[in-house]
Amino acid sequence: MPEENKQYKRILVTSALPYANGPIHIGHMAGVYIPSDTYVRYQRLKHRDVIHICGSDEHGVAITMRARKEGCTPQDIIDKYHELNKKAFEDFGISFDIYSRTSCDTHTETASEIFKTLYDNGKFIEKESEQYYDEEAKLFLADRYITGTCPHCGNTNAYGDQCEKCGTSLEPTDLIDPKSAISGSKPVLKKTKHWYMPLDQYQQFLEDWILKDHKNWKTNVYGQCKSWLDQGLQPRAVSRDLDWGIHVPVEGGEGKVLYVWFDAPIGYISFTKELTPDWEKYWKSPDTKLVHFIGKDNIVFHCIVFPAILKAEGSYILPDNVPANEFLNLENDKISTSRNWAVWLHEYNEAFPGKQDVLRYVLTANAPETKDNDFTWKDFQQRNNSELVAVLGNFVNRTLLLTDKYFGGIVPDGSNLTDADKEALSKIKEIKDSTEASIEQYRFREALNNAMGLGRLGNKYITEQEPWKVWKTDQERVKAILYVNLQITAAISTVLEPFLPHTTEKLRGFLNIAKTFEWDEIGEKELLPAGHKLNKSSLLFEPITDEVVQAQIDKLNQTKIDNLKNNFKPQDPKPEIAFEDFEKCDIRTATIISAEKVKKSNKLLKLLVDTGIDQRTVVSGIAEHYNPEEIAGRKILMIVNLKPRKIMGIESTGMILSAVGADGSLHFLNPDAELHNGCVIG
Ligand code: MF3
Ligand code: ZN
Repeated sequence: MPEENKQYKRILVTSALPYANGPIHIGHMAGVYIPSDTYVRYQRLKHRDVIHICGSDEHGVAITMRARKEGCTPQDIIDKYHELNKKAFEDFGISFDIYSRTSCDTHTETASEIFKTLYDNGKFIEKESEQYYDEEAKLFLADRYITGTCPHCGNTNAYGDQCEKCGTSLEPTDLIDPKSAISGSKPVLKKTKHWYMPLDQYQQFLEDWILKDHKNWKTNVYGQCKSWLDQGLQPRAVSRDLDWGIHVPVEGGEGKVLYVWFDAPIGYISFTKELTPDWEKYWKSPDTKLVHFIGKDNIVFHCIVFPAILKAEGSYILPDNVPANEFLNLENDKISTSRNWAVWLHEYNEAFPGKQDVLRYVLTANAPETKDNDFTWKDFQQRNNSELVAVLGNFVNRTLLLTDKYFGGIVPDGSNLTDADKEALSKIKEIKDSTEASIEQYRFREALNNAMGLGRLGNKYITEQEPWKVWKTDQERVKAILYVNLQITAAISTVLEPFLPHTTEKLRGFLNIAKTFEWDEIGEKELLPAGHKLNKSSLLFEPITDEVVQAQIDKLNQTKIDNLKNNFKPQDPKPEIAFEDFEKCDIRTATIISAEKVKKSNKLLKLLVDTGIDQRTVVSGIAEHYNPEEIAGRKILMIVNLKPRKIMGIESTGMILSAVGADGSLHFLNPDAELHNGCVIG
């Protein structure tokens, strides 16, 4: 039965368990945690029975690789990043009901139990196969432990499980020219036995469940599932030859662990068990709506592999929806942990204290819901200054200040309303309803835009009504105007709560109300009665200055330079030459007397140089690196006996020595002492 219109009694929300092998960045936030938190906060306002489950994914090769790289144990890695990420989420206001970790005992027990159940019921197939083995490291090479050339796109850095360039999922044996990521050696094939989930046996079931019954899933999710199903599902190994992970709990499992993608999603179940003794009500009742929030690289695991496992087990529900997002880029470049190309959540929290909601706002307004999107610091500044400050903040601020000034902070009487007033008030419900509808359909950008309609409505109304002018002639009328403004402001303090929880909390403080309003009463009845006393207010948002944004851009530029330096490979050496050949070069110390741009050229400067022998003209391709004014007077080294050349009609008689850095920047070479012009170098 298509489940679109099903009435559920409770909602179980999961957010992808981030690997505890690195910090959380804005890509994770925009893709998964901000939408899930928004969704859950809204459901709580609706008084629905909802829980939000998350925690660290602490197994798998991602963790062991990081430990090798940092020269410590996997345990050190997960302890470090679990704490860091847990705190960063908290500081940012992501309201999980539990943030646990897959290294906990409950999880080991739960995952082992499910594996054993499937094993006992004959749901796995056992297969011996030849797998790559690193003879130096004495290790089977699974997943990311092996790299090579992608057979589809030729990327020479594809992993054993996936090519990140073209996105194809791979088997290690698909790789051309495979190499061990640990020792760099060429691996050999060796026999090993593993348990497989025969996904091919679930093909029909999944086709019916997804392609027929869940046509309402997001196009990107549905499309990826369809393409997997169209290719035909294959059995997938659910164990690995590693020593980091949950040991395979059946006979013959010595030295093997569960594949991380077998155990990690089971973490959702384990953590629910830790949260509540009532966990079965959430996981085993068809009255529960299960929703997985994930990024697009997790689609196959949440829509195909995990559902097949749960189906095989038999007693669990399957997701009602999997609203996966696409990826967020940063300043036009793919976010990358290894290249340090990211805005890290814990660093943002430190650099922008009290501004969590600004990032929440920007990442929702620009969420990669239907396609990859780009985050730029300029856009961040622009949205803060022209939307949060100029529209929402400005409206609320004017309303509260005027109420304070004219009525001593007491909500004025609203019994004499004009048609325009009533019309403005009637929009509140429309806006709330449209926000609600968009959230229910997982369209968070649209939902935020709808909710911001309250700010736009208020701003337009107050600008048209001009209470500061009316005050001089008709103070009774100002009562009605501010009454209307205050009802809109009150609605803002609840309708925007799922998106901007810190701001709305602050606003409720200004309004002197203890908690959010009843969602279903917003737009249906008066929220702030006449006579209610408000508190003192301050600004809800502050402008973000150019300097602040520039500091972030500078930091990223520095990262780019650092990366280039770290990846710098010197050019191959040139062939040997005779000493006499070198002696032919006449290199001298010299001084640039003056410089000017060569007309019609972006690259060339015309220089007048004192060589100690004479003064001469040199044309040099350095205009992109040096300003003419700043190089007059510079000491340089120069070849003075090169045959003259005409460049753009100017005769150039010499060449200045310079070196190009890893980042492409060009530098003159300076003698380390104050030498007069004309000294011979050699
Ligand atoms: N750790 C995985 C990732 O970052 C996500 C795991 S989600 C779960 O891609 F379902 F497996 F828990
Ligand atoms: Zn590829």
